[in-house]
Amino acid sequence: MASIEVRALDDSLSFGAEVTGVTSAVLKDESVRAQLAQLFEDRGVIVFRGVEPTAEMQVEISKVFGPLKEHPVSSVERADAEKLTGVIAIGTGPHMGVVEIGGQKLQTWQPWHFDHAYNNELNRAGVLRSLAIASDGGLTGFADGVQIYRDMDPAIRAKAEGISPLYNLDLRYTEQRFGLPDTFRVVRHHESKLHEMTAGDPCSIHPILWTRPDGEKVFHMTPYGCRGIEGDRSDAAFELLAEIWDEAMRVIKPYHHQWHTTDMVIWDNWRVLHEACGCPEGQERVVHRTTIKGDYGLGRFEERSAAGQVA
Ligand SMILES: [Fe+2]
Repeated sequence: MASIEVRALDDSLSFGAEVTGVTSAVLKDESVRAQLAQLFEDRGVIVFRGVEPTAEMQVEISKVFGPLKEHPVSSVERADAEKLTGVIAIGTGPHMGVVEIGGQKLQTWQPWHFDHAYNNELNRAGVLRSLAIASDGGLTGFADGVQIYRDMDPAIRAKAEGISPLYNLDLRYTEQRFGLPDTFRVVRHHESKLHEMTAGDPCSIHPILWTRPDGEKVFHMTPYGCRGIEGDRSDAAFELLAEIWDEAMRVIKPYHHQWHTTDMVIWDNWRVLHEACGCPEGQERVVHRTTIKGDYGLGRFEERSAAGQVA
């Protein structure tokens, strides 16, 4: 029988596993597939080490965890539209924005977030692979919403109960109302028309807290593309969101992945937040991502009256 090796990613963390021994042949074994699916459910993040660095292998590993999903934004670059469904490319280039944090200019930086927040449906997972690795930086961070919930001050956590933020595809940092580092500034905007193309579209709504089938509560929120709280876009709403977010960031215990080309990482998009730490301007970084279909069933879009007003 085929076997894989499983260990904790880091003994001090509440989440994450590292798996070696995954090959195309090993993945034909139904018991291995079931073991990996359960490990993903239990640990939220799996780092696969020493896997064949191909798009085909990325798709094969991804399909262990569910069917693939096409990215909901048609303008997002596809890695190989002819051959493979659902592999998107994210890379450095002149189209990429530049931000400055602590005096350092960075490309490919993204704050803590979950994917498809702007959508009503939340994909089950993403699988990342790094094809070009920045020689300095380029790390991807992962953080467990179960751990964050457990460790938050109960008084602030109580304020998040029943609150559902609004999200859209205006991802310009100049429009982000909270959750940016104190030393942050935009040097060059990302070349994107998404905010114009989607202006006027209803926002999505996702609860800050939700409960997994195993009874664990999850903190699940992002300042990225956040447009307020359902029914409240006032300054006070943003102050409350910032207070809740700052508390989550106070207690967060993340894992930061340093990439090798033979790594692949899957994360549970309903439980785990992720961030891109960025790399110095001028360095090349290319990652490919697959998206695994599914839904946690708690997201929805704002409803509008016949006059187009948000209800
Ligand atoms: Fe992401």
